[in-house]
Amino acid sequence: MKLQDKFTQLKEKGQGILATNFYNFETLEGILQAAKRTNQPIILQLTKNSIEYMGLNVAFDLAKAMLHKHGVEGWIHLDHADSYELVAKCLDAGFDSVMIDASEQAFRDNIAITKKVVQLAESYGANVEAELGYIAKLDQPNHKNGFTRPKQAKQFVEATGVDALAVAIGTAHGFYKEEPKLDLERLSEISDETEVCLVLHGGSGIPDQCLKKAIDQGICKINLATEIKNVFMRTLKSVMQNNDQIDLRQVFPAATDQISQLVQNKLEIVQNNK
Ligand code: 13P
Ligand code: ZN
Ligand code: NA
Repeated sequence: MKLQDKFTQLKEKGQGILATNFYNFETLEGILQAAKRTNQPIILQLTKNSIEYMGLNVAFDLAKAMLHKHGVEGWIHLDHADSYELVAKCLDAGFDSVMIDASEQAFRDNIAITKKVVQLAESYGANVEAELGYIAKLDQPNHKNGFTRPKQAKQFVEATGVDALAVAIGTAHGFYKEEPKLDLERLSEISDETEVCLVLHGGSGIPDQCLKKAIDQGICKINLATEIKNVFMRTLKSVMQNNDQIDLRQVFPAATDQISQLVQNKLEIVQNNK
């Protein structure tokens, strides 16, 4: 099934889908064990940095092979691409879905590049996500300007033909200093204005009940990265305290297990069973 069709199906059921970033074999293994155990579909995401780290074809083939190994329904997605060229490379490599992030450009420039990506992706049958508004990146201040405006969202979707839209409603990438306050009213207005899949970036650090409410108000795809990295590294650190094990195969599985637990919890939330 195409991801675009999955979005439609999930929206009808009032459910969301989890999109997890991955970094290596072990993170994939933890994510997919959880997806298999809960019988949930999943989106596996790669950023430009992760692609540079593993190599484009290695990263893509590893994710595909792992989906096959676990028998999980999933899609490979390019997260936060900053250029048309990177999108083109990933579509050629077989990605099911791509995000072009021109959210820091002027509205009309964001529309122009997104439209170009939509046109290219069409011949591959791939899903396209774009971003409208300001969602703080890891190194950016979390200021309140630049929340997505509902009428602009409608205009943007109509002008570009995107399948999915990342919205700025108070989330930020990374952990939060204070508990985030999401503008759910705005989210619901955006959801009324457009049919596309609305995407929540900055999923790490958002309380479970808050995530559920966001799904109830129209969020369809939930992105999770920082919590995965954090759980992985914390577990490794604690396992390696006063431990001189050199067989890494004896050490990594503890981290994989913790990721699997984390992702299972998130999958149960996005499933949103009442
Ligand atoms: P977090 O790192 O806050 O989970 O955000 C993930 C994300 O939005 C990836 O695109
Ligand atoms: Zn993001
Ligand atoms: Na976050």
